[in-house]
Amino acid sequence: MPVSLVVLEQIVREAGAIALAQFKNLKNLQITQKSPRDFVTEADIAVEQFLKDKLSTHYPQFGFWGEESGQTADQLSRWVVDPIDGTHSFTKGQYFWAISVALEINQELVLGAVYAPALDDYYCAKKGKGAWKNGQPISVSTENDLGNAMIATGFACIRAYLKDNNLQRFCRIAEKTTGQRRFGSAALDLCLVADGQVDAFWEQSLNLYDIAAGALIAKEAGASVTDFDGNPGIFPEHILATNGKILDQLLPLMN
Ligand code: IPD
Ligand code: CA
Ligand code: CA
Repeated sequence: MPVSLVVLEQIVREAGAIALAQFKNLKNLQITQKSPRDFVTEADIAVEQFLKDKLSTHYPQFGFWGEESGQTADQLSRWVVDPIDGTHSFTKGQYFWAISVALEINQELVLGAVYAPALDDYYCAKKGKGAWKNGQPISVSTENDLGNAMIATGFACIRAYLKDNNLQRFCRIAEKTTGQRRFGSAALDLCLVADGQVDAFWEQSLNLYDIAAGALIAKEAGASVTDFDGNPGIFPEHILATNGKILDQLLPLMN
């Protein structure tokens, strides 16, 4: 059965309701650490289990790769899921966290859905058809001057041991722009590029499940999605998404 965007939205919104119920009852939330400074909550586990059950019941032809449960056997055509992107924000009662679900067929991203339950913003995209926020088409900003731009990034504390920990790059870019933001959810950051709320976003050392859905949404909204050298493609190690107009001004600052 082909995937219906309507069914996908229902499933992702239901998953959002599970997460939101736990978010409203944070004092009873069980939080553990996968490794130092890497949190996982019972909400992450419950949302992923729900998505895995629902998606494989509706669409048994696809495999499943989730952050918390790993991969099923079929790796070429699969759902790529981050049950809660922005877990740390979630545990603090902040609003910027999202459920991220992408469909990859033969290693090509074809559908993406990112739902931020605390904001009730649902973003989705279909390859070649466009991107939408809460049912309305969205597109990237028209800002063409890096000096006036608003740029988002992320710093993963668990990767602070890396020689390139993003701090020098952040300083270089901050000196050339007007606004910098760190929202705490890469999936949502990419949707903000798609919706023109920020003019660019970059981060390093992510995983495909952090960015798969958001990157497709950004691309379908007109974003340039590249690595830090400007090569087009979806690179979890070095993702740079821009409105396209400030790409050439940002690239010299990336390396
Ligand atoms: C994290 C978020 C955050 C980014 C981290 C990710 P998680 O995902 O996307 O914005 O800076 O690198 O690990 O752990 O909350 O799913
Ligand atoms: Ca994530
Ligand atoms: Ca996660």
